[in-house]
Amino acid sequence: MDRNFFLFAVIATAATASLCSSESLASPHSTERDGDPLIRQVVDDGDVNRLPLGAEHHFSLFKRRFGKSYASEEEHNRRFKIFKANMRRAQRHQSFDPSAVHGVTQFADLTPFEFRKAFLGLRGHRLRLPVDTNAAPILPTENLPTDFDWRERGAVTPVKNQGSCGSCWSFSTTGALEGANFLATGELVSLSEQQLVDCDHECDPDEADSCDSGCNGGLMNSAFEYTLKAGGLMREEDYPYTGTDRGTCKFDKSKIAASVANFSVVPLDEDQIAANLVKNGPLAIAINAVFMQTYIGGVSCPFICSKRLDHGVLLVGYGSAGYAPIRMRDKDYWIIKNSWGENWGENGYYRICKGRNICGVDSMVSTVAAVRIGDTSIAAAAAGQ
Ligand SMILES: *[C@@H]1O[C@H](CO)[C@@H](O)[C@H](O)[C@H]1NC(C)=O
Repeated sequence: MDRNFFLFAVIATAATASLCSSESLASPHSTERDGDPLIRQVVDDGDVNRLPLGAEHHFSLFKRRFGKSYASEEEHNRRFKIFKANMRRAQRHQSFDPSAVHGVTQFADLTPFEFRKAFLGLRGHRLRLPVDTNAAPILPTENLPTDFDWRERGAVTPVKNQGSCGSCWSFSTTGALEGANFLATGELVSLSEQQLVDCDHECDPDEADSCDSGCNGGLMNSAFEYTLKAGGLMREEDYPYTGTDRGTCKFDKSKIAASVANFSVVPLDEDQIAANLVKNGPLAIAINAVFMQTYIGGVSCPFICSKRLDHGVLLVGYGSAGYAPIRMRDKDYWIIKNSWGENWGENGYYRICKGRNICGVDSMVSTVAAVRIGDTSIAAAAAGQ
């Protein structure tokens, strides 16, 4: 392994990781506003009076569409207030991100703080990458296709839903291993997030109290390390998702459906990311999700977006001719599989523009290789036997 690269990767990860969600969760100051001070400065003037007419009407539609009901009138009024604030936020996001559409989503009655706590879950105090992390070899980048989508090639399972549990990291991990396993075996098998939520308590080698912790967040590289040590992941149907982390670990080694051969971090370089995606399958990535709370569709390309990583997702492809309204030129974009169900975004997917590490999308990217069928010597070695 290239030591210099590894050192760089460790430092880079520490720099981004220290900005991640657990800290923002602990901070009461950033609860009602976009965390990014730059956004705050730009939008604080004037916008407040542009409240759309008929907020009551929109709120009724929202409640009906997403089956919302509230326990008391106080709660109802509180949620209506938050809803109105979120409509103003969606409006700000729209003016900051004109090539996407922002508006009312199923998260429109949640404060940004509640949203981050329940629907994200990238936990980032970690200073060191797990011991078995490799640096991805540099790949040739000539002859990359201009458009590429693993969904068309059968490597991506249907969109899943993490519910109100900060377990995004486990969905990003299973998504990457599902793709790698498809490439290794030709079979697409949906893998168990619940196994990771219940059983993966992998910690930072240097910080014993910074560990993968179910609905309270985790990291994909640590989850790959757990999976390598445990021997593999079970099928989704053999260990189904419950969306809580109060159960005990029910991992059954005799029912392993996919195993990790190795995993690697990809350098912050869009051509290398694309080359790794095309060669190795969907990639586990982290992102700042602030614009995702109000995202409806289109290519998200905000003028300013924090690079504080707080959400784990799956990179499945890229394209070159993104939807763009008048005056906006076509945009290159990444295609990202999210874990908030098919009713969010573009049938559960998010498109974000390529080119300038928008929302930190290029800064924490990992690729995993799966053990091939029948290759038990690797499986045994991977499980440390
Ligand atoms: C990871 O495993 C795959 C499949 O066994 C192998 O082809 C590849 O060279 C390995 N990569 C690293 C970085 O060891």
